[in-house]
Amino acid sequence: MIPETLAGVGHEDGYLEEKAKAIVLLMRMEPELLNETEERKSWSYDGIVAYSKVCTHVGCPVALYEQQTHHLLCPCHQSQFDVANGAEVIFGPAARPLPQLPITVDDEGYLIAQSDFHEPVGPSFWERH
Ligand code: FES
Repeated sequence: MIPETLAGVGHEDGYLEEKAKAIVLLMRMEPELLNETEERKSWSYDGIVAYSKVCTHVGCPVALYEQQTHHLLCPCHQSQFDVANGAEVIFGPAARPLPQLPITVDDEGYLIAQSDFHEPVGPSFWERH
């Protein structure tokens, strides 16, 4: 999914810089590798999942993806999240999984969000009850 602000923008026009500012990560896995809860089976599309990029520890961008293991790494304090299992924390100080953004495909074939995130995005100390 390329945000409207990036449509038609070439790499020479700052595409990578704009992409780096995005706060949602889109990843595609083989659908059979996703261990989704019943509720979240409709939140992905053909193995494509979307998660917040903002680490739940103290908010660094989680942007290092290991394609072979399906792990996302946070470079700040080395938290690791397992994308195949709801981005649950498998290592490090983060206390909760990365929030998932429910996505689908519209009539024109574009990936779209079904709703907002269902839980607060960002560090656990932000807006937590
Ligand atoms: S901010 Fe990600 S592990 Fe600390």
